[in-house]
Amino acid sequence: MPSQLAHRPVTPVALVGAGPGGIDLLTIRALRLIEAADVVIHDRLVSGDILALARAGAHVIAAGKQGFGPTTPQEAINALITGHALTGARVVRLKGGDPVLFGRLDEEIAALEAAGLPYEIVPGVTAASAAAAAIGQSLTQRGRNSGLRLLTGHDMQGFADHDWRALAHPGEVAALYMAKRAARFVQGRLMMHGAAPDTPVTLVENAARADERILATTLADWPTDLADAGLDGPALTFLGLAPREARARIPQTTPLTRQELA
Ligand SMILES: C[S@@+](CC[C@H](N)C(=O)[O-])C[C@H]1O[C@@H](n2cnc3c(N)ncnc32)[C@H](O)[C@@H]1O
Repeated sequence: MPSQLAHRPVTPVALVGAGPGGIDLLTIRALRLIEAADVVIHDRLVSGDILALARAGAHVIAAGKQGFGPTTPQEAINALITGHALTGARVVRLKGGDPVLFGRLDEEIAALEAAGLPYEIVPGVTAASAAAAAIGQSLTQRGRNSGLRLLTGHDMQGFADHDWRALAHPGEVAALYMAKRAARFVQGRLMMHGAAPDTPVTLVENAARADERILATTLADWPTDLADAGLDGPALTFLGLAPREARARIPQTTPLTRQELA
């Protein structure tokens, strides 16, 4: 670390949401912090376009996690963040979407607090918002759903358990993160609790990116259609929501591109 950094007053570590991928959904505050950063520690969902905003000479470090895949231990990420911040470097911890959702933010905040380091949180556009925009739907609707559940498909124990009875009610809407592998598990739980087989299920892969794809299906066909579609990017799954423009064509087995939906 350059010696002049050691004498700079500690600036708050910025825990920043990078949004769902497209550079144009970055907040202006996030942009300013990235441009000013000495160190950017990012997860695997942050796109190359956004990382390229870091100034020449900034230290850009990948510290990613992949559900069921290669991963940087959380303790190592915490140590990276606090270690750089304690030298006086301006550190941006950059996370896909909104850092307050499924981002292990509390663990990083606890590490910063333990090190006596100040921090700020900069919200970003979460995947559920970007995916809802992609399918032309509102996440809440008078007379349909007055609330929305944001759920994970898996947690540290494996497939995550939820209130399946409540989720099986007609009109319920849920946004499932990290749920591709959990499709058959969730389908089984919902059917067991009486959910209608024709309940709409919609997956938006790479929401708000150039390669965005939409798979509209039903609860009955979800696992099969998902396997056939071969989605390999990050995907948000909606239970109880169908793409507005494609309603008449449900179920779909071929992912729709943005253009096909228009
Ligand atoms: C660890 S969670 C992080 C969520 C993130 N903090 C947010 O607010 O969007 C990762 C999951 O978010 C969802 N996700 C993130 N970016 C996405 C995108 N551009 N399109 C669809 N889903 C996305 C996927 O379900 C992915 O498995």
